[in-house]
Order: sequence, then structure tokens, then C-alpha cells
Amino acid sequence: MCGIVGYYGPENPKDVILGGLKSLEYRGYDSAGVAILNHGEFKRVRAEGKLSTLQKKLEHEAFDGHLGIGHTRWATHGAPVEKNAHPHTVRGISLVHNGIIENYLELKEELGPQAQFTSDTDSELVAHLIAGEIESTHDLLASVLRVLPRLQGAYSILVVSKDHPDEMVAFKNGPPLIVGSAKGAVLVASDVQAILPYTKKVVYLNDLEIAHIKGESFEIYDSRGQALKKVVTTIDWTAEQAQKEGYEHFMLKEIFEQPRAVARALAPHVDVAKHTTNILENTGLAERFHGIDRIAIIACGTSFYAGQVGAYLIEKLAGITVTTDIASEFRYRDPVLSKNTLAVLISQSGETADTLAVLRQLKRLDVPVLSLCNVKNSTIDRESDGHLYMNAGPEVGVASTKAFTSTLAVLHLVAVGIARSRGRLSALDEERYIRALLAAPAQMETVLACDKFFSEAATTLKSYRGFLYMGRGVNYPIALEGALKLKELAYMHAEGYAAGEMKHGPLALIDARMAVVMLAPSDGLYEKTLSNLEEAKARGGVIISIGTFGNEKLRDLSAHYLALPRAEWSVNPLLEAIPLQLLAYHVAHALGHDVDQPRNLAKSVTVE
Ligand code: M6R
Repeated sequence: MCGIVGYYGPENPKDVILGGLKSLEYRGYDSAGVAILNHGEFKRVRAEGKLSTLQKKLEHEAFDGHLGIGHTRWATHGAPVEKNAHPHTVRGISLVHNGIIENYLELKEELGPQAQFTSDTDSELVAHLIAGEIESTHDLLASVLRVLPRLQGAYSILVVSKDHPDEMVAFKNGPPLIVGSAKGAVLVASDVQAILPYTKKVVYLNDLEIAHIKGESFEIYDSRGQALKKVVTTIDWTAEQAQKEGYEHFMLKEIFEQPRAVARALAPHVDVAKHTTNILENTGLAERFHGIDRIAIIACGTSFYAGQVGAYLIEKLAGITVTTDIASEFRYRDPVLSKNTLAVLISQSGETADTLAVLRQLKRLDVPVLSLCNVKNSTIDRESDGHLYMNAGPEVGVASTKAFTSTLAVLHLVAVGIARSRGRLSALDEERYIRALLAAPAQMETVLACDKFFSEAATTLKSYRGFLYMGRGVNYPIALEGALKLKELAYMHAEGYAAGEMKHGPLALIDARMAVVMLAPSDGLYEKTLSNLEEAKARGGVIISIGTFGNEKLRDLSAHYLALPRAEWSVNPLLEAIPLQLLAYHVAHALGHDVDQPRNLAKSVTVE
């Protein structure tokens, strides 16, 4: 979604803002712009398309001021063209906006025909409203306080005024906004990445809070204008972690980081000498696990598929009912939940609008919520009752990779923890599963060697008409995730299916132009999966199989065969995810697509 950066300070605002916007590119955008003080006026420069176009336009622009705002826009209202790019300027007011103003038409009508609009956006309307108020208040903060109650929707906004050249006002209801102060400087941004090179100390705005920046200091107010005392949070990510480190793309770097990320995800919860886990205690909700009769896992996209793997693991190991729901469905479903339900919400960004809406719905229903996020202090993390972390470090590629496998590792520990606490797992079995998990990072390292295979095979694979991904049991959600990866990166038709479901429809799709990716590790369901593979092969499908080392039969049946190290059934998903990510990455790359920022997609989906 859109990126916001604001800067007041001694450095050249153009460089700070462009640098900040660059670090937010991963969020997805289709135009960009800045407004920076120059000779007492805000000079605005905007461009359609990539940041490099804006950078070119700014090459010969000089600014003598020390304050400016910038934005990368992901179009919602109005096409991704220059006139709709932010900042929007109305009578000396310039602002950038992330999100949607839902009552935009109603408010526009109230302004009447004398209000001249130069864009098709809902954002410009807010600039009109603030410009109208400032004519009587002559005060930027007071004007925002008057406009705020009139806005409906999910938004975060940063506004400046030419008559208040050392001030910025930031406010939000929904998408995140943070404020950080460095030596003689204040920065505002929609994400920590933009601020990290300057400071690690930040303040997160809550909904309906307002940050008033004046010179090098700032105050936070509530929506009635009462000053608030806010906690300053120290970020434990470094600016370097969000760099490509020599990899061609962030996604490739993040795929290769997975062994370390999974090890980091496990570390806080495992006693490596005793081979036990204390993960339930670490949630802050340990006592709530006693007496629950159901776990409801809710998430979106890749996080949802990770949740589905978690459901298989928890049900099998702990013998407790687990339901999985897509957040955008759950929130409109009038769900029936017993009072002994524990909800687990999974979100890498911790800002996904649908998942956040579910969190608030569950809190109204008095259901305890455990969140599993990668971004600490994100809204979902802050508002949950209990907390777990993926610990994957910053994930910049839009396609989620290391956050996914880290989530699988954490959910596996949760399954072991619940199973132990319910007396469903012996100490010996706990040790067996923990040993298997601790061995996974090294096994993942060996699986990464298939990178070469996919980089070579991509030229053939890219010409297939479509891909069917299949698996059974715990491998089935990995098939769904593999198909999602190929869709979002290669823009090819791909579907994930439970292998046993093939004869109920998808078998009709199979011919020599259809690739069938079969997840067939040597587990309890292998023989069943093998017969599904043979059915697909008999219909002429091109088989790409992923099995366990030493399986010569699978190799003979397949056009392409990848052998995974021998592992516990429950750990196979961690290993299988890697070849599927690499397949999607290399096919997309071979097709010439932007792997880190696939078209139409955003990293953090903060609107519904
Ligand atoms: O930040 P979240 O985990 O809540 O995001 C959920 C989905 O938007 C996300 O997983 C999406 O499907 C990714 N693009 C997948 O690669």
C-alpha cells in the first residue's frame, strides 16, 4: 500500500525523503511525489510509475527549506496517473494520504461546486477541508482537529502548510504511522524501514491520535486535542537487514535467509539441552490454553496457508478442534464461537485490514486473541491479548517467504506445547519432534541447492499452460501456497488442490501442456499420493515431483524430480516450501517480471 515519509531537519529533505520512499518501495505503488519547502513555498514534483522516474525529475531540482513530505501511491480512487499522485495541494496545504475516505462523495457535495478539484482522488478532498479550516483558525493542528471527526474510513495522513513552514501534522485511523526523532530532526513514516537509518526510537500513533511536529520536537494529542504521554519503542531491526546484500532481488535473499530465520523463530521457545518447548508460557496466555475446546486460526493469503498447516499439526498432535478461516470471510460471517475458544491471528505485517477487523470483532465477543506477527508493535501485535513472533527479520519482497516458514516453525512448537500440556504427547515424543525441528535449518540449507535446478528449468517451465499443485494432509496447504506464489509472481494460472480431490474435477484439465507439481514425501499418505500422481501421468500431465531422498520410483515417474532430506512428517512442509518458492521466483524472472514488486500487489494490505 502507499508509503508516507516526512522530514524536518538539518539534512537535505530531498535525499532523506527519496531514500525513505525507496525503502518503502516494497509496499507496492504506481506513482510517487514530494512537496519540499523552497523559498517559503512547497515545491511539488510528482511522477507516474516507478520512483526512478521521480528521481530523474528531481535531479536538477534544488530546495532551500528543511521540511518536506513524500509519498508512493497505490491507486484506489482514480487511475495511477500524475494528476492523482500525492502530495495534493490546495491553497497552501499539501498532504499525503494512505487509505480510503469512505464518505468522500458526501463531503465533496458539502464543499459545493466552488471547490475546484484537480484530481480524481479522495485525498484531495481532505486538503480542501483543512485549507477551509485554516482560513479561520490560522493554526494547522487546530484545523486538523476540526476535520478529523468528519472523516470516515481507514486513513493515515501527513499534512503541511506553507504558512507554518516548520510544522507537520500526522494523524491516522487504520493504516500505520510512526514518528521518530533524531539529532535535530523529526521523521514521520508509514513504516520503520524509512526511519531506521536515522533513529531506532519511534512512537507508534494509535487510531485517532495526532502527532504535531514543530521544529525538532513533537507532541502527540488525542482527537479532542488533549496531550498524551506515549511510550517510545526501540526497534531491534537494523537498516542493513533491509538491504539486498548482493542478491539480485529481495525475494531471493529472503528465500536464502530461511534456515537462519527458522532457527531464530525457534530459539526463544526451545530448551536445546532438554529438547522441550516452553512456547505456551511465552505467549503471555499460558493459563488460557487450559480448558479451551477449540482453536480458531484466522489470517489472509500466505499467512492463512501457514495457519492451515498449523491446524493439521495441532489437531493431530494435541487432539483439539482447530478451524481455519480467511479473515475477509470471517469478519462478515456471524461466527458462532464457544466461550472456550482461543483465536490465533497470523499476520506478517501485523497491519492487514481484514485480520485487524477480525481482531476487533473477537475482542467485542470476548474471545482471547493470540497473535503471531513478524512486525513487533504492529497494530495487530499491540491490540492482541497474547503474542508470538515469527522473528524472521524485515521481509521486503511482496511475496512472503521467510515469514511463512518461520510461521510454520512457531506453529509446530505451539502444537507440541499444547499436546504436552494436554498429556497427549510423551516426553520422548516431545523430544523427537523438537529434535526434528532443530535439524530443519540445516536440512533447509541443503534444499536451497535446488536453486540451480529451477534457474535452468525455468525456460521450459514458463511455457506451460498452467500448473496444478497437489498434496495430501499437512502437504496440502503447501500446495495451495506454491500455487499462490506462482500466480502472484509469474502471473500464470496455478491452482492448489488436495490430491485426493483431483478425480472430482481438475483431472479434466490435465494434458501435455499442464504441469502437475506433486508433493509426495515419504509419510503416512505417500502411497495414496502416488496413485494420484499415476492418474495424472496416465492423462499426459507433466509431473514435477517433490519426494524424499532415495525414492527411485518417484524419479522414474516424473519429468522433474526433487529429493528432500528425510525428515519427520511434520517438518516436511518447511522443506517443501523452498523448491516451490524457487520455482515461482525463477519462472517469474525468466518471464521478465518484477519479482520483488509484482503488479497490482502490495506488501501490507491496509485497506479492505
Ligand atoms: O501481512 P499478512 O501476513 O497479514 O499478509 C497477508 C497476505 O496479504 C500475504 O500473505 C499475501 O498473500 C502475500 N503477498 C503472499 O506472498
